[in-house]
Amino acid sequence: MNTITYPVAASPLVTLGERGLDITLGDGKTHYFNYYWLRDNCPSSFSPVTRERSFDIFHLDSAPVPARAEVEGDVLVIDWTGEDHVTRMPLGWLETYSTGNSRPDPADLPRQAWYGDHYADVPRFSQPRLLADPTTRAAWMEAMLVHGFTILTDMPDSDQGLTETAEIMGSVRPTFFGTYFDVKTHINPTNTAYTAAALELHTDTPAEEYAPGVQFLHCRANSVAGGESLYADGVAVANDFRTRDPEGFRLLSEVSIPFFCEHDTYDARSRQTVIELDQHGEVSGLTISQHMADIFDLDQKLLDEYYPAFCRFGRMLQEDRYMMRFLMNAGECMVFDNHRIVHGRAAYQATSGDRYLRGCYVDRGEMRSTYRALVSEGRFKA
Ligand SMILES: [Fe+2]
Repeated sequence: MNTITYPVAASPLVTLGERGLDITLGDGKTHYFNYYWLRDNCPSSFSPVTRERSFDIFHLDSAPVPARAEVEGDVLVIDWTGEDHVTRMPLGWLETYSTGNSRPDPADLPRQAWYGDHYADVPRFSQPRLLADPTTRAAWMEAMLVHGFTILTDMPDSDQGLTETAEIMGSVRPTFFGTYFDVKTHINPTNTAYTAAALELHTDTPAEEYAPGVQFLHCRANSVAGGESLYADGVAVANDFRTRDPEGFRLLSEVSIPFFCEHDTYDARSRQTVIELDQHGEVSGLTISQHMADIFDLDQKLLDEYYPAFCRFGRMLQEDRYMMRFLMNAGECMVFDNHRIVHGRAAYQATSGDRYLRGCYVDRGEMRSTYRALVSEGRFKA
């Protein structure tokens, strides 16, 4: 039988074990770190040129074990057995990960719930300024992360105007309705949005596995009678629902229901929970659409509980205290988180004037990525 002996570290702050070491950090507490993790995340594992991980842990001949580990100043120095490599890890960096935390994320901002009286306070940004100024771009995306809804003003009256605006945030993301969509009355509508009828509160294309994240609605004309825009903050409603109806909240955030969208050339289906939670357990959004909800295929006994909760939530969503109502103006672009903000519209008289919205989507992940790149130093910037 092979007997493995583990060397005693020279530093009193470090104790070597079989699969990891204990180290006392600046908080005065002793923290455990696994050897694979220490070797894999050696600062030399990341290339400043490619900005990727260049070390491949699969190619180690044996499990990483230190021959020696000690604290020198504010750095943990590890000599590894079986390879000619020394890891120098700043203690402050170890503290960041000592309790299983994720890498700090500047885009992980607390959301601020808003209510029906929010219209005057909606963050507004002038489109030409967004194009010209990176600081304004960062402020816009921060407002999107925090409030989920912004209005852009001074939009050019052109198709290109929408494209250049969306591309500030990321790539325009097609859906089965195409890359861009035009909301006006269609002769053969494939969607209630393309009629003059009222449109109940919903999130867009829930039948996609990953519904598009950020919606742009560029108002090119709005001179019809009626057609008020309706928006509500799903975070505000779901947070209140959590307090008012904890069991209903549990059902709507844990049980997924089916959605569909079907026409001649597509048959999209997905399952989503109505209430979406983030990695902290906080409400991050909703998926809801009465016209795209499929036949609920849950156990019929579960439906005894689910349907009443679903209806309690759906009715709550329509309460006046949450509903922001306003008329869009030509030259404005509504930009909102399609997973968080439910939107709809009152009926309008199709013959009373022009109503034309042109829209597209960008994914949420791209928005976060562009925001991080604008505001943070990252790991590789000089
Ligand atoms: Fe919509």
